Amino acid sequence: MRKQYRAEGLDEGELAGHPMAQFERWFRQAAAEGAVFEPNAMVVSTANAEGRPSSRTVLMKAYDEQGFVFYTNYDSRKALDLAENPYVSLLFPWHPIARQVIVTGTARRTGRDETAAYFRTRPHGSQLGAWASAQSSVISSRAELDTAYEELSTRYPEGEQVPVPPNWGGYRVAPQSVEFWQGRRNRLHDRLRYVAEADGSWRVERLSP
Ligand SMILES: Cc1cc2nc3c(=O)[nH]c(=O)nc-3n(C[C@H](O)[C@H](O)[C@H](O)COP(=O)(O)O)c2cc1C
Repeated sequence: MRKQYRAEGLDEGELAGHPMAQFERWFRQAAAEGAVFEPNAMVVSTANAEGRPSSRTVLMKAYDEQGFVFYTNYDSRKALDLAENPYVSLLFPWHPIARQVIVTGTARRTGRDETAAYFRTRPHGSQLGAWASAQSSVISSRAELDTAYEELSTRYPEGEQVPVPPNWGGYRVAPQSVEFWQGRRNRLHDRLRYVAEADGSWRVERLSP
């Protein structure tokens, strides 16, 4: 299990001015030639009002200057946490290229138009799945889920437009800090962290590995 990371270093001088521009560079490299399987998979950690954390993987579906977008059920455990406490941590575990990106920030729901535009790009089966699943609730059996799906596919056959479930939609995580971690030899890894300043600019600091 013990691997020596031989990767190139990460230098302050080569960083982009904005963390999302730096993210874009790394994301493209992670996606290039299948370097990382599902590079848009990220671990989202939330905490409830009592400070109890929980984590799960979701797929990042968009990113831009404003932050990172994922879609989920607004009644799920993560959504209940976010309703009480909007602070989140995101982690992109790009192990095959000895990199990780760690974000802290706040999550806000995307607008309904943005959610609807994305929902319409999903395959028909995934659209029905979003309706069929009361995500994070306890169910009695697999059959209950399959029956709900079957009923929905009779109501909305392939080709028929499926409405956006009212309790389903996106979150945009606006970053407050973004750390770029590059594995190096002898555990002397590079860690460069962008931190948001009050005036909207970004400070970069180096962390000890
Ligand atoms: C690779 C992968 C991608 C996933 N993508 C999503 C996603 O985009 N949205 C989502 O709600 N759940 C996604 N899930 C399922 C979540 O990990 C999780 O089970 C679900 O969102 C319920 O989480 P919660 O009960 O903590 O709210 C994904 C799971 C895996 C393993």
